[in-house]
Amino acid sequence: MTGYDALAEVYEWLISDAKLTPAEFAAAFDDVIGLLPPNAHVLDSSCGTGQLAVGLAGLGMQVVASDASAVMIRRTEKLAVELAASLRTVRAGWHELPDHFDDASFDMVFCVGNSLHHAEGASGRLAALESMSRLLRPGGRLVLTSRTWELVRAGGSRLDIRDQLVRRNGRDALVIYRWEIAPHWEQEHHIEIAVARVDADGSVLVRSELLSCWPYRYDELGSELHSVGLRVEKSTFDPEVEGYMVIATKA
Ligand SMILES: C[S@@+](CC[C@H](N)C(=O)[O-])C[C@H]1O[C@@H](n2cnc3c(N)ncnc32)[C@H](O)[C@@H]1O
Repeated sequence: MTGYDALAEVYEWLISDAKLTPAEFAAAFDDVIGLLPPNAHVLDSSCGTGQLAVGLAGLGMQVVASDASAVMIRRTEKLAVELAASLRTVRAGWHELPDHFDDASFDMVFCVGNSLHHAEGASGRLAALESMSRLLRPGGRLVLTSRTWELVRAGGSRLDIRDQLVRRNGRDALVIYRWEIAPHWEQEHHIEIAVARVDADGSVLVRSELLSCWPYRYDELGSELHSVGLRVEKSTFDPEVEGYMVIATKA
């Protein structure tokens, strides 16, 4: 199971402060966005609640936002309407993307915010990367961000209860992550995420989901990118740092 439908309702309590607004989210990718032609065609292939897609549309790009979760797609559409951003949405898992778009349709494909580990095992991940690669024009770029699973696995199974309430739109929430680390890399792992939000009348709304994920080593990811015709152009990977970004170019 790779659901996000329940968490979609409270997703802003899970986004970092720095990426809350569309403009801030897009600005995190300033360097690579600066390489794009005017009116570039870009796809955010796991758009979540749409901050990045709406931010990119605000920069004048032709944006498609896709996600496997119908509720996430609805949230993206709502955000686009609220901010008068023009974009197209498609509810599709990564492996379904080639059913919706011709090959070489995009200048840039994003897969960011700890998404790729939801692809089911090495074969699912390869199928996802293959889809993203097919959609890129020659010279186009995949922008991928990832947890450093080497570090996550080293920490073992654990409960991570944030010691501070997260405040969004004047409402506080307690966020809990429960990590279930399987003995072997290739096995299904789980992250259970719970958000307990205190509403104005004092009532507490709780949303939680048990998410499946399949971790990968950085080296494995590099080989997989290579095998689908993507050459790593830039990487911020550092085994001591909790996340990294990879930019890979379509041959
Ligand atoms: C951690 S969220 C990240 C969302 C957004 N990119 C962000 O940074 O806020 C992971 C997203 O991946 C989506 N997802 C999970 N499995 C997917 C799949 N097979 N294909 C496309 N999207 C998927 C989820 O629905 C969810 O919106």
